[in-house]
Amino acid sequence: MVAGLIGGTSLLNSRYMKGKSRDMENKHGRVLVMKGEGWVYVPRHGWNGSIPPHRINHKANIVALESEGVSHLVGVYSVGSLREEIKPGQLVVPDDYISFWDIPTYFNRDVIHITPVMDKDMGRLMVEKAGELGLEVVSGGTYFQTTGPRLETRAEIRFLRDYAEVVGMTMASEATLACELGLRYAALCTVDNYAHGLVDEELDYVDVMGKASTGRDSLHELLDLVVEGLKCF
Ligand code: HPA
Repeated sequence: MVAGLIGGTSLLNSRYMKGKSRDMENKHGRVLVMKGEGWVYVPRHGWNGSIPPHRINHKANIVALESEGVSHLVGVYSVGSLREEIKPGQLVVPDDYISFWDIPTYFNRDVIHITPVMDKDMGRLMVEKAGELGLEVVSGGTYFQTTGPRLETRAEIRFLRDYAEVVGMTMASEATLACELGLRYAALCTVDNYAHGLVDEELDYVDVMGKASTGRDSLHELLDLVVEGLKCF
């Protein structure tokens, strides 16, 4: 069993960026792939985080992981909270998602309609391991995917909060493609801010990411436990 990881800025300084790196090419495009003992990692924003969310080549990334033998994929995502009680610094393991626009697919010729699912056992493993580390984790919830790169307007957030717990720009695309390839998939979200207008404080993304980049050690520790735990799947 090879565990796959796909992540963003929160993993840029992790040991997963220090794996054996390779620039891979598949029919969808080029992908940076890192490999270590029992895991394969794709940094979705590239080497130094320079690929913006709306330009990520999701199809190339997920197929690259599959071609490296990944059967179980964990996606790590930065999100904004749509609930006052879900606070920045906490983790969320969503069990569903909404994405109405720009749905990527590998099935452009065949008439195949997958039913999206997220892996409950993998989700449970992440919640359990987070608990063991004493991290605050919310089990379940819906991720709403917006297209980015801009943040949402206050009015959009007022609308979205009736339907989801967290908002971000990448998870639904990756979850859908992983599902189309038959990979088992679960997501781990770091809550980095309250969504726009949810609290009085001004929302500034640079500021949010600056604050979020400190204290990532526990997230990396959690992923190590999850990768280890996946070996028993
Ligand atoms: N909105 C969209 N994507 C995000 C946010 C947000 O508030 N925070 C982190 N990623």
